[in-house]
Amino acid sequence: MLPRKVSKEFIEGLPKSELHVHLEGTLEPELKLKLAKKNNIDIGQSTIEDVEATYHYTSLASFLAVYYPGMNVLQTESDFYELAMAYLKKAHEQGVVHTEMFFDPQAHIIRGVPLNYVINGFYQACVDARAFGIDAQLIMCFLRDMSARSAMDLLNAAQPYHNKILGICLDSYEHHNPPLKFMQPFSLAVEQGYHITMHADVDQIDSIEHIKQALEIINVERLDHGTNIVENKDLVDWVNQLHLGLTSCPLSNELITDNDLKGDEILDLLDIGVKVSINSDDPAYFGGYIADNYWALASEYKVTPEQIVQLAKNSIETSWISKEQKQLYLEQIDKYVEEYDG
Ligand code: ADE
Ligand code: ZN
Repeated sequence: MLPRKVSKEFIEGLPKSELHVHLEGTLEPELKLKLAKKNNIDIGQSTIEDVEATYHYTSLASFLAVYYPGMNVLQTESDFYELAMAYLKKAHEQGVVHTEMFFDPQAHIIRGVPLNYVINGFYQACVDARAFGIDAQLIMCFLRDMSARSAMDLLNAAQPYHNKILGICLDSYEHHNPPLKFMQPFSLAVEQGYHITMHADVDQIDSIEHIKQALEIINVERLDHGTNIVENKDLVDWVNQLHLGLTSCPLSNELITDNDLKGDEILDLLDIGVKVSINSDDPAYFGGYIADNYWALASEYKVTPEQIVQLAKNSIETSWISKEQKQLYLEQIDKYVEEYDG
């Protein structure tokens, strides 16, 4: 039975899907330090407290300035495996049954790390995580502050790994890097059979114009973040009518804006039927995994248990799995609620 009030424990046990998590953003300070030592990389900090002291952001740009240098510790295939495995275990503890995880190959290739280390390490973790009941898939990102040529080169280089990659995303620094810059690599990605999504980070310069391009010209299947659509009724109608998923990340929103989880926007969109879901984005950097994000929303806004369940259902419905698999997970959610005794 549904509880009268939302609790962290109810959220943690609720079967859910995570559709917006960057594997490089799951690099916890402990693992960062361990890999730095193993690989002889000077990251400028030697204790967890020192590492955490660098985690101060007030914008997307200031976050990315901490996020990219942290990746230097990832050198071998087993480093990528260990990173993904650590995330998958945590996600499993927080009720995740299915996840579609972003990764940023260009950020590794430019450091001289071969693409096969990145993809094979991450993919092997996906395979091994099946043993503890998570279905994990990979979404390859193009960095929007690099060129369209570089994105095309990555798409071509990833051709031998096509069966290990479910979709393509656009992430990184948004200003002056509109979706249209990547028209060609995204068209080719669709031709090659990939699913496509793009970041529309909250409150960016030109957010609405970028969202219009992503939805109306590139025809993305989901929007990552994207809650700025509330500023434009036509965009809300578009997203609603096409049942497009919006992958929202409250703790990330809080840290890259002026303390705004965007809970009002998330709940307004949910109420009118938009398929918004809750996700963690870069959990090691933003202070919480998926259940912590649901809980941040539930504890700071008026959120009912029905709304929490709808958010979890949205995460399944807007995932890129088969209709049959979606049905199974949706039934798992109903069964969890039916049997819940709290
Ligand atoms: N890369 C990692 N996290 C990101 C975010 N929230 N926005 C854009 N690029 C990212
Ligand atoms: Zn993101």
